[in-house]
Amino acid sequence: MALIGTVPRRCVNLPPGSLGTLIRYRLGKKVREGPELEEFCRQFGKWLGAPYVFGASSGRSAFQLALEALDLEKGAEIVFPIFTFPVMPMVAQILGYKPVFCDVNPETFNAGPEHIEPKISGRTGAILATHLFGQPCPIREVAALARKRKVRLLEDCAHACGVRVAGRQVGTFGDIGVFSFAEGKNMPCFGGGAIATADQDIARRAEDILAKAPLPAAEAITKQAFAIWAKWLLTRPLIFGITAYPALRLKLLLGQPLMDSAVGDDLLENFLHSNPRISRLSNLQAALGLRQLRQVDAFNEGARRNARILTEHLGDVPGIGAPRSTEGDHIYVYYPLTVDPQKRDDLRHYLLRHGIDSKTTDMANCATLKPFLGPRNAAVPNQGPREASILEICVYPVIPENEMRRIGRLIRTWAGLPAWQTTARAVPCPSHEGGRG
Ligand SMILES: Cc1ncc(COP(=O)(O)O)c(C=O)c1O
Repeated sequence: MALIGTVPRRCVNLPPGSLGTLIRYRLGKKVREGPELEEFCRQFGKWLGAPYVFGASSGRSAFQLALEALDLEKGAEIVFPIFTFPVMPMVAQILGYKPVFCDVNPETFNAGPEHIEPKISGRTGAILATHLFGQPCPIREVAALARKRKVRLLEDCAHACGVRVAGRQVGTFGDIGVFSFAEGKNMPCFGGGAIATADQDIARRAEDILAKAPLPAAEAITKQAFAIWAKWLLTRPLIFGITAYPALRLKLLLGQPLMDSAVGDDLLENFLHSNPRISRLSNLQAALGLRQLRQVDAFNEGARRNARILTEHLGDVPGIGAPRSTEGDHIYVYYPLTVDPQKRDDLRHYLLRHGIDSKTTDMANCATLKPFLGPRNAAVPNQGPREASILEICVYPVIPENEMRRIGRLIRTWAGLPAWQTTARAVPCPSHEGGRG
């Protein structure tokens, strides 16, 4: 059983010195409140190019803040991509809005104006443009559509912190950008989230709402921070190789589930029982955010480099879809392979036997989920991406480039191809923004 040369399904990305920060802030009683909170919002806004930023306790809490600050009429429809993180439309539904789903491009997993426009009606209040897996959607065209049809535009940037399109950060094209700093994202801050806006009225309302929102308890934040730090440690490839990896191999041997998180309807059930509400970002999370801001661009570039290596190996593998970068600079927060759903688990098990863990996706085809079934969504052509065909590979820069090549060779071998062909077609994977193409 290989203990070295193992790759976890996700590597938590914490900046150096995170544990020290956690201990110092705990001892100094600065976990809940302190000057870092304001400073982080200022610096994050400066880096983004957004005049107003407000912190929240998670991405979903930030989305709730965004919707309340937008102040749409209750009952208004909000257009979501059909394939997304289903908690987001659930937040809208809880607040009294009606999620309406539009189709997405099956190659990029994102929705463009051609998918969104047919779903806009006189009842539409807003569009949530989502940049899934780190790939920007055609946001300039979507923003033009929102202006033309006079509907509000929000951006879900949970997977896209630091993504630029034609030199401009995503999250600044619409009325509000929504960000997540959860442990599985590229800029984790021991949890947290934020909204960014250039609209003064929205900013004023967000400020009022947050003034009444609670700060999470210091104990709860500290506990969460230690748990995330422990996950950081356990997802260092070497430590993973001697801890979680043998456990996963044993589970595979016994035919047991591979420690997958709750998805789909189960995920929504858990969310509903979590008493969702708006709460604020803590000072400790903001302090970590300030450190993250110094490294996130370099981190994204490292993920992009690793993704490029993998994509070069997979360009000609029949039956395997590698993510394609068609708009702006994909940062590959997740690297979703698409594969025949009948063969997906076989590939997953093969990779695991060779030291490579991979993840089934938390994204879902929302039109198939219980809370969203109904006549308005029945018209959605049920042919978009399927969660059962997706396998996410971690391409974070903590994984050495030679490991990325090995993953590429393994997938080729699994597909019955020579491990490497000199004639293999390299799929273009632009590393810089610059618009379409
Ligand atoms: C696309 C997307 N949007 C929003 C969120 C919500 O972020 P959080 O988990 O911080 O609430 C997630 C979380 O995974 C996500 O994947």
